Amino acid sequence: MINIAPSVLAADPLNMERSVQRMLDAGCDWIHVDVMDGHFVPNLGFTPALVRALRRRWPTVPLDVHLMMDNPDAYIREFAEAGATGLTVHAEVAGVRDSLKLIREAGCYAGLALKPATAAGEVLSLLPDCDLILVMTVEPGFGGQHLNAAMLDKLKEFRRLGWTGLLESDGGITLDNLPRLIDAGLDTAVMGTALYSAADPAEAVRRIRAMST
Ligand code: DX5
Ligand code: ZN
Repeated sequence: MINIAPSVLAADPLNMERSVQRMLDAGCDWIHVDVMDGHFVPNLGFTPALVRALRRRWPTVPLDVHLMMDNPDAYIREFAEAGATGLTVHAEVAGVRDSLKLIREAGCYAGLALKPATAAGEVLSLLPDCDLILVMTVEPGFGGQHLNAAMLDKLKEFRRLGWTGLLESDGGITLDNLPRLIDAGLDTAVMGTALYSAADPAEAVRRIRAMST
């Protein structure tokens, strides 16, 4: 089964609770939270306060927190204590192996994200420290971009290399391109615009479930 992880970046910021509830009512599995520091990516994103609030409101929903930042180590414990289920750090950031270890020590699953220019072969030695691989299908930083189709080969490459853990993509995923991602080995789909702007998110989720059975 595919884990469907709507990204709160696409939620209505003035109606966050209602907006996220609509995704959960539609049958989505996880909540994806983008944290951006204005340095690793040219945008600003969410903080531990949002993770804490989401966790209080939905005690059991997996919170998948994507740290697009240069110094994740300073915040890993805080995000874990706020209630994150998983924390994903970027392979392009110095000291990522230590970050992955800190994440597991903090009791979360450890995710490793790759920007489009980072090849699967560059992170092989990190795989034993990871529970999830996130293949970015756009340059990180903004929602509503177009998926880079060359990333399908990167998903396949991870499966070819024997990766059996969670394999996630993020950026530009639509109901039209998702079947190809699933064929390439994806099991966890982050979707912002495609789900939050869907007229009928429950119907979108039904269509996604039908793709993966
Ligand atoms: C991009 C973010 C994504 C973003 C995806 O940097 O990491 O999580 O919200 O949004 P869509 O699905 O609109 O591309
Ligand atoms: Zn993300």
